[in-house]
Formats: sequence, structure tokens, C-alpha cells
Amino acid sequence: MSTANANELGTEPPHDDQEYDGIHELDNPQPTWFKLIMVGTVIFAGAYWYWYHWGGSGKSIHQTYDAEYAEYRARRATIEAAEGAAISEESLAALAADGGAMTRGKAVFVQSCASCHTENGRGLVGPNLTDDFQIHGATRSDIYNTVKVGVPDKGMISWAPVLAPNDLAAVAAYVSTLRHTNVAEGKPPQGEKVAPFGK
Ligand code: HEC
Repeated sequence: MSTANANELGTEPPHDDQEYDGIHELDNPQPTWFKLIMVGTVIFAGAYWYWYHWGGSGKSIHQTYDAEYAEYRARRATIEAAEGAAISEESLAALAADGGAMTRGKAVFVQSCASCHTENGRGLVGPNLTDDFQIHGATRSDIYNTVKVGVPDKGMISWAPVLAPNDLAAVAAYVSTLRHTNVAEGKPPQGEKVAPFGK
């Protein structure tokens, strides 16, 4: 108490040891580990600032996301371009002659198309696909495109967003095999007369 009073009056030089209200304060040096943590955080902050905000190549999560998204879009564009380019009159004819692809195409047709075209394609809401008449174009590629983009005004949706690309190709090729099969009780012809596909 006396020391504190003396200090408050400024009559004694500052002491290493201070006592006030019965609390004795020591002037111990900070432990080395503590100082190292302090120095470490300063170094870390400097390095962090350099790496992310100045010259370093560190990327923020937004930059990382943008980079990954751009890469995804580029890859997707490449795949879509390859799939689009792979569809041709020849590739559809080859599919139409491929038993496995036609089993798949028929399964897709029964599941997704039969409600409007019936199971054997004779037509109901949608046109008869088994006669020699076609509304949109004449070729297998025309059939593929109609299925792909749909005829939304007439009630047929675009199937590209619904079906996997190879299912889309298989079902279009399958529809092309129905032409000229002229199943019984078919819906009356609609569209232009078209030539049967050669086998
Ligand atoms: C909701 C009913 C509906 C469903 C389901 C449907 N279609 Fe259609 N489809 C139609 C209608 C209606 C048309 C006629 C469009 C027109 O008049 O231009 C049509 C037209 C077509 C044509 C063109 C025929 C032509 O003469 O040019 C093809 C090919 C076809 N559909 C295939 C399919 C395939 C394959 C599926 C299944 C993946 C399918 N459709 C599912 C209603 C449907």
C-alpha cells in the first residue's frame, strides 16, 4: 500500500514489481512460445496478403468457382457438339439396323411416346407413324429433329431435355423403322407422301 501511494505521488521511480489492493504484479517476460505465435501470425498475415491480394496466385472461392464453372461449360459444349455432330442420316440408318439399339428405342417409345402415338405407332393424339406420310420433312434426320425440338403448338414437347442423347437417337431411329409397316386401324394419313426407307 505504501509503495502504491508513493508511486501515485511520483516520489519513487517506477518499479518492476507493483502492488495495489493486495495484488502483486510481476514483470515477467512473455514465454517464448507465446511470442512465436505472435510473430507467426504477423508473418502469416503478410504471406496471406501477398498470396491472395497482391502478387501471389491464390484464388478466392469466387474465382475458384468461376474457373470451375467455365471449365464445366467448356467440357459440356465439347460433348454436346460431339453428340450433335454424330447424328446424321447414316448414323440413324445404322442405329435402325442395330438390334440392340432398336430394343432400346422401342422401350423408350412404349414408355414416352405410346400415350399419343399408341404402342405400335398407329396414331391417336399424335399422327400415325406407320404409314407413308409425314408432316415434318421426309428423312430420318427430319424425324430426329422433330422428336428433338418437338412441335409445341400441336402438343408434342421437345424431347431433348427429357431423354438421354443416345435414347433420343435410338427412339428416332426406331420411329423411322415404323414407316411403311401400315399397321391395322391406323389414323388417317397426315402430311406429304414420302418414300419408304430402304432396308
Ligand atoms: C402428348 C402427346 C405426344 C407425345 C407424348 C409424343 N408425341 Fe409425337 N407428336 C404428337 C403430335 C400432336 C404430333 C403432330 C405434330 C403436328 O401436327 O405438327 C406429333 C408428331 C410427331 C412426329 C412427326 C410426325 C410427322 O408426320 O412429321 C414424330 C416423328 C413424333 N411425334 C415422334 C414422337 C416420339 C418419338 C415421341 C416419344 C419420345 C413422341 N412423339 C411423343 C404428340 C405427341
